[in-house]
Amino acid sequence: MFMLSMLAFVLSLAAQEQPQQTAAKLEVQIQQPVAKVSPILYGLMTEEINYSYDGGLYGELVRNRTFHDSNWDLPGWSLVEKGISVASMEVDKSTGPSAALPLSLKLKVERADAADPAGIQNTGFWGIPVRPATTYQGSFYAKASDRSVGPVTVTLRDDNTGAAVATATVPSLSTEWQRYAFTLTTGAARLSAANHLVLCVEHPGTVWFDLVSLFPPTYQDRPNGNRVDLMEKLAAMKPAFLRFPGGNYLEGDHLSQRYQWKKTIGPLVDRPTHPSPWHYHSSDGMGLLEFLEWCEDLHMQPVLAIYAGYSMAQEHVTPGPELEPYVDDALQEIEYVIGDRNTKWGAVRAGDGHPEAFPLNFVEIGNEDFFDRSGSYDARYAQFYAAIKKKYPQLQLIATTPVKSVRPDVIDDHFYRAPEEFFADTHHYDKTDRNGPKVFVGEWATRKGTPTPDFGAALGDAAWMTGLERNSDIVIMASYAPLFVNVNPGGMQWETDLIGYNTLASYGSPAYYAQVMFSNHHGDEIIRSTLEGGGPRFFYSVTRDAAKNVLYLKAVNASSLPQPIDITLAGASEVQNDGKLIRLSAKTPNETNSISEPAKIVPVESTVNNIGSSFRHVLPPFSIEVLEINWR
Ligand code: AHR
Repeated sequence: MFMLSMLAFVLSLAAQEQPQQTAAKLEVQIQQPVAKVSPILYGLMTEEINYSYDGGLYGELVRNRTFHDSNWDLPGWSLVEKGISVASMEVDKSTGPSAALPLSLKLKVERADAADPAGIQNTGFWGIPVRPATTYQGSFYAKASDRSVGPVTVTLRDDNTGAAVATATVPSLSTEWQRYAFTLTTGAARLSAANHLVLCVEHPGTVWFDLVSLFPPTYQDRPNGNRVDLMEKLAAMKPAFLRFPGGNYLEGDHLSQRYQWKKTIGPLVDRPTHPSPWHYHSSDGMGLLEFLEWCEDLHMQPVLAIYAGYSMAQEHVTPGPELEPYVDDALQEIEYVIGDRNTKWGAVRAGDGHPEAFPLNFVEIGNEDFFDRSGSYDARYAQFYAAIKKKYPQLQLIATTPVKSVRPDVIDDHFYRAPEEFFADTHHYDKTDRNGPKVFVGEWATRKGTPTPDFGAALGDAAWMTGLERNSDIVIMASYAPLFVNVNPGGMQWETDLIGYNTLASYGSPAYYAQVMFSNHHGDEIIRSTLEGGGPRFFYSVTRDAAKNVLYLKAVNASSLPQPIDITLAGASEVQNDGKLIRLSAKTPNETNSISEPAKIVPVESTVNNIGSSFRHVLPPFSIEVLEINWR
């Protein structure tokens, strides 16, 4: 007895000594919904940045496959002269397989034989990933000076040993441009990124190559499809929409470098490719149809951003007759997405392999037009608005900055901030006029950590998301940006990106897991609640899924001290004793995940047993939680 009371005394002393935040008193009225949660609150924003598609999501393994990325050098490519073979290579601007690809790589072989072939090789995007027992689909366009050049041998080779990992042969080449397909299958190969692709011939002669392509197995086996691990990471976010194609990538630095959707559809050989504002050339393999199919695969609705007459070097198209062709182009783009097969552009889409129309509710007119110093956006928006609404009155049209001459359906707000700024601004939308345009937070991120956000950033994000969720009657959509970064040297143009990857593997940042937690538990109604006390870095939101009688309490403790909460659940006849707790936490805000430590910080699931109509729950320091409670 004496021992027990001593133990209780010691424990109570320990509890007193353990510093913690002042307790928060949270009262939740389970039966009092105050507003609807937007069912499409959480989605994705994407553009070609940080090698997001080329060298990222888009499955292509050959870098610079059409030789367009070339100044003095030819990224990705070099000459192969084995043994006594003699050859040279150069970009030939006088011949190519199509009007869209008028140039090619000319390989001139002076001397070669079976033992000493000559050719070209590609290093891929920071190597070519080789996996055991895997089949790769390849192809290239080529023509030969004459038939004596003989077969082309295609080989995946290990960078370090030079050993062939897989080989295929194209028996002979025509003297006219033609496409040749091949298959490479690995055997008991070692998992490795240190490989390159070699195309060689064994006889003298000249060969022109173009659109050299190699694909690994893709998500849902789509031809010209996407990388599996990255698609799976996105699927786990349960995103409701995809905003594409940008971002700056939509606008381009110059008008001539804007995203021109018509040049991104149809066979790859008919896509001219284009320079992107993020300092590398885009293959446009991820074209308009591929964006839409990406939406289809992950059950997202497209949020289609259309080019609206402004490019980033302060180039704009004057509203009025000059802008008319751009408006027409946008109408045709929308028809490509939603027109049936009897429409001109719906028929083109069907010809491209997708007879069914895609769903479309939102069209965004431009991107960040507050940067346009000419002040032309108001009139440009109005011109697009009038034309699109006339033909498609059902579409919701998003403005990228406030305009006066017409009332936009939705305004796109962007926020790139430090954690402290988000902590201080979680009430940003509490007072927003509910009769005004809806809000789309189309780009946002807590920028702390590189290349991917650390746990401190995840805390800023989660705090901010509690505010978005609480206001999701007016904030109908939100998407973190940028989504992707290739963490190989030179892969990143913008720091703090949600998901990182190299040639073989990918990982989610702590901020990624915060998104997964919020998006998988958003509920459908915001519940009345009041909070008293609590530390200055405590944030929360409460929603419920009315049909399932489940309550979701999201709580964020961005402090280094534990945060006790005394929770009262009013209005339920019975609250289930056991609740599900999902916790993401770290020892310090600087802790993070990385390509070498991808799972340091991941959500951990457990059961909380002490739940009743009133109970105490303690959030550990630096933690983000979702507490799932069932009631009757
Ligand atoms: O997300 C990176 C860039 O930030 C986007 O391209 C642009 O819209 C914004 O300024």
